[in-house]
Amino acid sequence: MSTDDARFSSHAEYLDALEDIPSNPNPQDTLAEIINRREAIGRIIGIGALAVSPPTAFAAGQQPHAALTASRGFDFEEIAHGVDRTHHVSPGYRADILIRWGDPVTAGAPAFDPYAQSPAAQLQQFGYNNDFVGFVPLPFGSQNPEHGLLCINHEYTDAQMMFPQPGQGKPLSRQSMTEIEMAGNGGSVIEIKKTNDRWGLVGNSRYARRINALDTAMRIAGPAAGHPRMRTSADPEGLQVIGTLNNCAGGITPWGTYLMAEENFNKYFIGRLRGHPESRNFARYGVPGNGFGWGLFHPRFDINREPNEANRFGWIVEVDPLDPTSTPVKRTALGRFKHEGAACILNGDGRLVLYSGDDQAFEFLYRFVSRDRVDMDERGANHDLLDHGTLSVARFNDDGTLDWLPLTHGQAGLDASNGFRDQGDVVIEARRAASMLGATPMDRPEDVEPNPVNGRVYVMLTNNTARTQERLDGVNPRAHNAWGQVVELAPAGGDHAAGSARWELLIKAGDPADPGVDADWNPATSDNGWFACPDNCAIDPDGRLWVCTDQGSKWKHRSGTADGVWALQTEGPGRGRGKMFFRVPVGAEMCGPCFNPDGRTLFVAVQHPGTAGAIHFPGFERSSTFGDPATRWPDFDPEMPPRPSVVVITRDDGGKIGG
Ligand code: FEO
Ligand code: CA
Ligand code: CA
Ligand code: CA
Repeated sequence: MSTDDARFSSHAEYLDALEDIPSNPNPQDTLAEIINRREAIGRIIGIGALAVSPPTAFAAGQQPHAALTASRGFDFEEIAHGVDRTHHVSPGYRADILIRWGDPVTAGAPAFDPYAQSPAAQLQQFGYNNDFVGFVPLPFGSQNPEHGLLCINHEYTDAQMMFPQPGQGKPLSRQSMTEIEMAGNGGSVIEIKKTNDRWGLVGNSRYARRINALDTAMRIAGPAAGHPRMRTSADPEGLQVIGTLNNCAGGITPWGTYLMAEENFNKYFIGRLRGHPESRNFARYGVPGNGFGWGLFHPRFDINREPNEANRFGWIVEVDPLDPTSTPVKRTALGRFKHEGAACILNGDGRLVLYSGDDQAFEFLYRFVSRDRVDMDERGANHDLLDHGTLSVARFNDDGTLDWLPLTHGQAGLDASNGFRDQGDVVIEARRAASMLGATPMDRPEDVEPNPVNGRVYVMLTNNTARTQERLDGVNPRAHNAWGQVVELAPAGGDHAAGSARWELLIKAGDPADPGVDADWNPATSDNGWFACPDNCAIDPDGRLWVCTDQGSKWKHRSGTADGVWALQTEGPGRGRGKMFFRVPVGAEMCGPCFNPDGRTLFVAVQHPGTAGAIHFPGFERSSTFGDPATRWPDFDPEMPPRPSVVVITRDDGGKIGG
């Protein structure tokens, strides 16, 4: 398939569609499916919350909570579904732009000039398409709600929206554009502070940093480090790699490091392998995705030139934001797949538990449990904690139970007879290993957030239009699922490291008024309270769930509203009730919800404004470009293209977000 494919009106829409195409060859031919088919497919949707033991865990950067406060619900005025050129927030709140694509990050960075871009400038400026947002209070170890580091991922770039047409501004070579895009991927660390009730960047911060795909050297650690399949001509030892890309969601560890998830890494590779030992592996991951031409200028992204390079992406990267000179580390023990995120929790026994979804149709939900306990007194003692532990994958049974199946070399057929010579092979081909164990193929797992207040875990399944009637199961109960669902897990005994859990569907998304959708919401949900395509999510300091949506270019048909942030009640009689809080401008996706420690500030990331499904925007009805965008949010300056930006939301009276 080429990006000239007539079904797509823009490059961004082509990239969007790739995620809906399964590459799991036998999605229903697993042990889980066989077991599931033996049992009647039950409708397992919860009005009462799952029983769970008292919480024994607390999340990164948060203190244990004395009382379960999540049941108090939400108290804010709901906004309406709709779509227009700007953002909207609940009355009584303000939403300010904190930082935009191109704004200076590191000391001495040039001011943004969209008509005079260069790789050197982009390496110092805020990257494109902000996604994950994480907050690390300063000084480290405090719960300071008004000063900290913001760690922000930059997921991908879009040349059509970034670069002026020929004849406008300084001409750019194709190689320069490629390298600006490589520099625009990755992450940013910025220091922010609240002064006189307004958040702003601290100038010349010693923490300010750009991490990118062009020149950031990274170490490879864990079972795949040094593995023959990780070796390339530039790195004959298989121990280091330049860059990270497609950094979607992520996480913050209890020791204050920033985890960047590498999601759709396959799109960056070109070429075609025939009869090569990696062919089967690459087919399962959709390599090469041919979404970007980086391989034309950087041959390592051409799989014919450097066939192992694609094994060096698809990992979780750990960054110490407190030390801007530190080398980021790819933690291969956490498996290689299209990691949506990496949310973690300090388990009751002191170990770290990390949840991560693999965002593609019919892929799986994973969990990592560290071997060792987290050292909360000496953060440096955790420097290799993510290199040792057990990666597992979820099998959802239709009786409402879930089993975690360990991806451990030498067990359950994960041995040389099946092409897994060591644990390095298991993590490099985590998808194939997980299929062998009988993991449940899911409706595109996005963010997964453990809730430290109620002890449960929330899994966003965004949609899966490729699911057919023959492939239904309890946790993925709708064919041609264009709307997604939210699943709640209750770990056995409140122990996130336990081998089993119970699960329930919290909601089935989509329009509850349309019987063809077969949605399921609390009946108190208003016409604006329902949503489609849950993606990123966050738990506020009171243990309440907030969900962001990403409907892609088909927003018009999925809900008719632009994406946004909804509060979603998990406790009491209001369980399963959604309430709309924030809405993005046309064509954008809502990412990165992140609360500061006192819950009085919510950071959100507005990704690709003006782009997705602009063809459906009444009065515009065409594809957006740099020179002709559906909106020029947030600057509304005729000389400025739309710019992905982080927005900071506070309440006019200084109170908690959500009441
Ligand atoms: Fe990058 Fe699955 O969203
Ligand atoms: Ca995301
Ligand atoms: Ca997303
Ligand atoms: Ca998504």
